[in-house]
Amino acid sequence: METPSHLAPLFQPIKLGSVEIKNRIVLSPMAVEDGSPEGYPTEQTIAFNVARAKGGVGLIVLGGCVSTRRAWKESPYGGGYRLDIEEAVPALRRLVDAVHTHDTKIFAEPMTSFGRLGSSRGGLQPIAPSVIPLVIPEDSFPEIMAVPGGRTMQMPREVTVPEIVALEDETAMSAVIARQAGFDGVEIGAHMSYLVTSFLSQRSNKRTDDYGGSPENRMRFLLNIVKKTRELVGDHYPMGVKLICNEHLDDGLSIQDCLEIGLALERAGVDYLSLSDGTYENQRLSVPSEDGALLKHGEPQAFRQELRVPIVVPSIHDPYRAADALAAGHADMISLGRPLLADPEWPNKAREGRVDEIRCCDRDNYCIVRLMTGMRPHCKINPEMGRESGPYPLSLRQKVRERAILAGVTTPSLARLAHALHLEPH
Ligand SMILES: Cc1cc2nc3c(=O)[nH]c(=O)nc-3n(C[C@H](O)[C@H](O)[C@H](O)COP(=O)(O)O)c2cc1C
Ligand code: SF4
Repeated sequence: METPSHLAPLFQPIKLGSVEIKNRIVLSPMAVEDGSPEGYPTEQTIAFNVARAKGGVGLIVLGGCVSTRRAWKESPYGGGYRLDIEEAVPALRRLVDAVHTHDTKIFAEPMTSFGRLGSSRGGLQPIAPSVIPLVIPEDSFPEIMAVPGGRTMQMPREVTVPEIVALEDETAMSAVIARQAGFDGVEIGAHMSYLVTSFLSQRSNKRTDDYGGSPENRMRFLLNIVKKTRELVGDHYPMGVKLICNEHLDDGLSIQDCLEIGLALERAGVDYLSLSDGTYENQRLSVPSEDGALLKHGEPQAFRQELRVPIVVPSIHDPYRAADALAAGHADMISLGRPLLADPEWPNKAREGRVDEIRCCDRDNYCIVRLMTGMRPHCKINPEMGRESGPYPLSLRQKVRERAILAGVTTPSLARLAHALHLEPH
C-alpha cells in the first residue's frame, strides 16, 4: 500500500553523522529489564528489539545500558545490559546482528551513573555533585500512582574529582565496547535527574571546584565524556546526546541554559540531540499525557532554530502530528517510546496508510509504574510486550506480590495505609 502524502515526511532517510537511517522514526531508549543476571542481552532482548525492527522503525536506541561499574551496581532497575565489560560483546553482537537483518540501525545509550536515583542495594552510597537529596513531590509521579507525601531519595555523598575523571574515562571506553559489538552509534544520557544532568544544573550542583559554579564548569563532566569518547572512537562514529531541554524548576535549567549546552555539544562534535523534558522532580513532563506537549512549550522549535545538528523530538504519538512537525521543520526525527511498546507495527502501519489500525498507547503509564516498583515492564494493551520470545512465567507467590504492590500504588486509600505502616515499595 502507498504511503499517504501527508505522512511522507516520516519516511525520508536522514544521516546522523556518518550513518544513514532509512526513516525519521526512533525507538526511544527504554529499560525493559530483560537482561541476564550477568548483564547481557538475552533471547527476549533480541525478540523485543527484532519485533520493533520488523515493525519498521529506522533507529533503535537501546535503553537499560550501563557504561560504568558503578552504574551497574547502583542501578535502580533490574535486567540491564553492561557496556563496561568486554565479556558482554558476544551477546551484544548477537542483538545488533539480529536487528541489522531488518535494515534497522541500533545505537546504545551509555548511562554513566544514576546519581541521586542510585540504589545502595549493591553496597554503594549514591553520589551527586553536592550533598542534596532528590525530593520527588507527590504530584510528580505518573497520574496513575498514589505516593502520599512523595519520596525523598537517599542522601548522596559528594563525588570526588578522581571519581568523576574515572567515570568520564569508563563511559568513553563503553563506546569502544559498543562499537566492537557492532552498534552503529551511541547516545549519551544527559537527562532526568541522573548524575550527568545533576552536574549541569545550578539547582543540584553547588560545587566550587572546576566542575561547579559557571555554566562552563557545570558542563565540564558531560563535555569531557563527549570529548574523551570522540578521542577513542574517532570523528566518524555517530554520537548523540539525550539532553534535558528545560528543567521547569525554580533555579533549574531554563530553555536558554539548555540551548547553550546544546551549542557546546555541537561544537564538541556531537552528531544529534534527542530532547527530554523535565526531571524526576516533575516526571509527568517526561512522559506527558498530552500528545506533542513539547511542541506547545516551544523547546523543539528553539533548538531547531539555534542548532545545525538534527534534533529528535519525543512524545508525538499521532503520526499526522509527527509528520507535520517534521514538515514544519520543528524536528528532524521523532522518537517513540510507549507507542512502540503498545504497537511495534506503528511505523509499518503509518507507511502503508493503515493509521486507523495502530493500537494507540493510552498513556495510562502502567508500564512505568511496573518499572518504578521493581517489576519488569508490561503493556496494558499489548499482552505480547515483554513476552516476545515466549511466556514470562511467574510463580504464584510472585503473582500475588505483583498484584499487591500494584494495588498498593494505584489505589489512593491503600497507598495511604501503606505509607502509614511504612510499607511502600522502593
Ligand atoms: C518502560 C520505560 C522505560 C524507560 N527507560 C528509559 C531508559 O532506559 N533510558 C531513557 O533515556 N529513557 C527511558 N524511558 C523514557 C523514554 O525513552 C521516553 O523518553 C519517554 O517514554 C517519553 O516518550 P513516549 O511519550 O514516546 O513514551 C523509559 C520509558 C518507559 C515507558
Ligand atoms: S502500558 Fe499503557 S502507557 Fe505503557 S505503553 Fe502500554 S498503553 Fe502505553
